[in-house]
Amino acid sequence: MSDGAMRAEAHTATVHFHDLHPTPADMRAEVLAGLALPRKRLSPKFFYDAEGSRLFDAICELPEYYPTRTEIGILRHHGAEMAARLGREALLVELGSGSSLKIRTLLTALRPAVYMPVDISKEHLLASAQALAAAFPGLVVHAVCADYSSAFALPVDDHEHPRAAFFPGSSVGNFEPEAAVRFLARVGELLGPGGRLLIGVDLIKDKRRLEAAYNDADGVTAAFNLNLLARINRELGADFDLDAFRHEAFFNETLSRIEMHLVSTRAQRVELAGQGFDFAEGESIHTECSYKYRIDGFHALAAEAGFRAEQVWIDPEALFSVHCLVWG
Ligand code: AVI
Repeated sequence: MSDGAMRAEAHTATVHFHDLHPTPADMRAEVLAGLALPRKRLSPKFFYDAEGSRLFDAICELPEYYPTRTEIGILRHHGAEMAARLGREALLVELGSGSSLKIRTLLTALRPAVYMPVDISKEHLLASAQALAAAFPGLVVHAVCADYSSAFALPVDDHEHPRAAFFPGSSVGNFEPEAAVRFLARVGELLGPGGRLLIGVDLIKDKRRLEAAYNDADGVTAAFNLNLLARINRELGADFDLDAFRHEAFFNETLSRIEMHLVSTRAQRVELAGQGFDFAEGESIHTECSYKYRIDGFHALAAEAGFRAEQVWIDPEALFSVHCLVWG
């Protein structure tokens, strides 16, 4: 099943590791293209090097960042119903698995034949997959290092198990809506007819509550945002002065999205790969969108992609939603 895979022993369980990682050249080309735009942009997928993943885990623990604990509460409360929808003995793919913490709330009820975490951050993925395999002896884990925002094929030849996918955390909100439709359609193709997707979606709510979640008092989100520039310096040899950029996050009500930016605090020039990029004072690099949805708006988006909404669970405060969608 694990053709060409590296194997890493974790106590009694085996983690099969498949490296489909994008090459550094992809990142260089994308960063250069993003900085050359009239309104500079960088993809949020580049947040997640080892340090960025560590900072993101810290964000998830913050009192202001309600999505993680709210979603975990929903998963704990309704896990048995969710497992009944997804079915046992599935090939269960988790997209953007990070620390694989949320899936722990469902694994005992779900009993998948194969758990396949997919993440862009290689070290984090491997460490998390090994920890999970150790905590769930007998669980077959195929860890896939890939950029899930691009098309990829599952690196296993398994047609005997029904397929299911888990995409928690409202990461779907980090796509532009048209890109979210294309992404969901790709997930549907991976699943095949009748395949189910369990997906977490953050809901539109009070602007102050939303903005506080992205402007925490301890500055962890600011450090997470700025680490993008530190990463570009480290990996691509750029000379961003981290003291000359500040974090900014606000809710764009017209577009129903949180926007994160890195704002240049002075006029400056940054060098990368032999090219110079000029910044005016106050000019920003747009680093992330985090779209927020209403239930019916998200169902319309899912339907456009080809999914049928089967069930939705929300918390008592209606902060967050988890949906079971069926493909085809
Ligand atoms: C991963 N993603 C869903 C997070 C979000 O809320 O959009 C990333 C994040 N950015 C700042 N804080 C958290």
